[in-house]
Amino acid sequence: MPNIETIISPALFHLHEEDIEHKNVVVIDILRATTTICVAFANGAKEILPVSKPEDAAAMQQLGWIAAAERHGETVPGFDMGNSPQDYSAERVNGRKIALTTTNGTRALQMSKSARNVWVGSFLNMDAICKALLSDNHDILLFCAGWKDKFNLEDTIYAGALARKLSAQFIIEDDATLAAIDLYMAAENNMAGYLQKASHVNRFKSLHIESDLDICLKTNSTDILPVFTNGSIYPQNP
Ligand code: MLT
Repeated sequence: MPNIETIISPALFHLHEEDIEHKNVVVIDILRATTTICVAFANGAKEILPVSKPEDAAAMQQLGWIAAAERHGETVPGFDMGNSPQDYSAERVNGRKIALTTTNGTRALQMSKSARNVWVGSFLNMDAICKALLSDNHDILLFCAGWKDKFNLEDTIYAGALARKLSAQFIIEDDATLAAIDLYMAAENNMAGYLQKASHVNRFKSLHIESDLDICLKTNSTDILPVFTNGSIYPQNP
């Protein structure tokens, strides 16, 4: 029976790189990169290229791509789009290719490139993620993007939610995953209320973007399954 491990920060990723080519990675950045990526594909985006720097995203505009950049929770000056799911309406992204850089999420995706599969996980597509993980039936790494290598509540809570749903089919012996499940159980009955204490939610309040939180907590609003492969993200049929 395959197992589940949870990486609570990119700073710990190197401890899991051995035989990563045989593992399925779910990249998790609930507030907001992986949520936003799911919204973009649900609204018709064709491809999302995660890049390291805002200037790399800007350069893709010459090829007709949308350039989107976020740093420290805010849209980078000079860019029309940042990392709010509200920026990615069908009107703006349908049929388009997007070059995106964010503080944490796009970096975690790039770090995962050697994995067997790399899927983009959010509450919005939770069942699609579980279906893919069950179907492929290989070891799982739940990779929390965190905040600048620090632990955050929302990503680990989501990892706990996934692990709990998969606990009958996967071995869970990893303390980080066991803790993630307990954290999810502490929050599950009032997720938005529990996350009022989260550092990133308080950052949202100071930036007056707290309305993103409700969007990021909508469970199974799409069956889209974004897959990161050959350096870019595409909607994989569930
Ligand atoms: C990210 O998604 O990389 C960060 O969590 C920043 C954000 O979108 O607020």
